[in-house]
Amino acid sequence: MEPKQSGHRTSRRSLLGGLAAGAGTIGAARLLAGGSAALARTRGSLTEGDAAILRFLAAAEILETDAWQQYNELGGVPDSEVPGGSGSADYIAALQVLDADMPQYIHDNTEDEFTHFTFINAYLASRGAEPVDLDRFRTLPSSRATGAQNIGRLTNLMQLTVDTTWWTRYRSRTRNPDFGDTFPQAVPGLAKGQFPAIPRSDADLAPKDHLQAIANTAGFHFAFIEQGGTSLYPSLAQRVTDPQVLRIVLSIGPTETMHFQTWQDKAGNAPALTDPTNGLVFPDLNAPPFGGEDFQTNLIMPEPTIFLDRKFPVCSIIRPTATQGAAMGALEALTANGLFIGQSSAFFAVLTELAGAADAASRGHGANE
Ligand SMILES: [Fe+2]
Ligand SMILES: [Fe+2]
Repeated sequence: MEPKQSGHRTSRRSLLGGLAAGAGTIGAARLLAGGSAALARTRGSLTEGDAAILRFLAAAEILETDAWQQYNELGGVPDSEVPGGSGSADYIAALQVLDADMPQYIHDNTEDEFTHFTFINAYLASRGAEPVDLDRFRTLPSSRATGAQNIGRLTNLMQLTVDTTWWTRYRSRTRNPDFGDTFPQAVPGLAKGQFPAIPRSDADLAPKDHLQAIANTAGFHFAFIEQGGTSLYPSLAQRVTDPQVLRIVLSIGPTETMHFQTWQDKAGNAPALTDPTNGLVFPDLNAPPFGGEDFQTNLIMPEPTIFLDRKFPVCSIIRPTATQGAAMGALEALTANGLFIGQSSAFFAVLTELAGAADAASRGHGANE
């Protein structure tokens, strides 16, 4: 797992083995058969920094995939594109209160994440760098609800503390986290305590407002995850050296934004309620003390805000995009989210090393350009 191994050339056979273990059936063989062999012939090894950035992104995508896979098993559309699980009809019905198309969107987001890490890993190998494999950390329990596979997981969706400040951050015209600004929570209750975003067992399918609170939590968590990717790619792109690596980062990153945009719209449809089992409140975001421009639910595109320097006119932008410490910041945000509760210290050590190496990368002249 050491980023220093970026100069090591992985054999085609070990690459195939690693991808088969990690990527399931999605496109890995096709990628290997086509693009990577041609790339290996025409391009040399990656700079240490580019390899480190791609390796951290591969790890982040593997973790994203693991979370989305759990959502798809219970709330999405398990099929040949995203196999595993058989759905929970009651959970799906609660998700569909946010939008009738939620299962399809969950499926498509899940498939996208599979392809992100599978592509990045195949590309790393094609440039002589070590792909990322986190399979040894698939140790967390699955939901026991009917419809979920009973397999080891990388991420925990049953004890989430969801930061919902992305909601107000993208609606503010005067503040930007890159200026040190902070933002109010859209759902203050979700930011303290631990809440399931999937039914932990069939006991979570009732009472009705409890299950709806779980679906609402998922709705806000979807956008939390995807706004993270929306910022991570442009933040890291600023320190990429190789034009082709830059093309990869610039081509994947905006798909995270497409996801975020969709989920931001759906979260706004989460019904106001109080979970009778734990008191978690989902407020009416269109009513006082909420409401107004920072909260109103029909603002689903970014409000323009300050960028680079207050002397410039406001601009509609992704925020934050500061590059310094971006990888560690993403890891810390996911950890604070409760996504890794139950993971081993070895897991955190590996992720911290990957993030540190990515944040140490600096833009320079490629060794083989
Ligand atoms: Fe992704
Ligand atoms: Fe994503």
